Amino acid sequence: MKLKIINGPNLNLLGNRETNIYGDISFENYLKQLQEKFKKAEIFYFQSNSEGEIITEIQDSEKDETNGIILNAAAYSHYSIAIRDAIKSISIPVVEVHISNIFSREKFRHKSVISAVCKGIISGFGLISYDLAIQSFIK
Ligand code: DQA
Repeated sequence: MKLKIINGPNLNLLGNRETNIYGDISFENYLKQLQEKFKKAEIFYFQSNSEGEIITEIQDSEKDETNGIILNAAAYSHYSIAIRDAIKSISIPVVEVHISNIFSREKFRHKSVISAVCKGIISGFGLISYDLAIQSFIK
């Protein structure tokens, strides 16, 4: 089982950015914990602050035989029709993840334009949101 975590803009700052909302652990450190916990899966990680690079990574997932994508498109979740179209263009299941509960924050975060084309959405459990998304792929 090959899983790919894709993180969007500003998530490279995890551990330093708004730690009251996003926590104080860097994603690289948390990734090590996930890889240790889910030994059955190969977990790959890609982060970009650029919409186009995220789209290319989503498109390339069929070529590199990824079985499932865990996507935190960050702020792009709220308005990127291009990322939505990229998700629609592939047949690999995508689980949308958010660290914070987007529905309990500012109104502009309540709407995600990608949710409807994702298999499911996990939001509000801190970094554990990623863990739960991985569990959804592992039988
Ligand atoms: C986020 C929520 C988004 O609204 C925000 O723009 C992010 C992170 C989350 O993981 O909680 O950058 O996707």
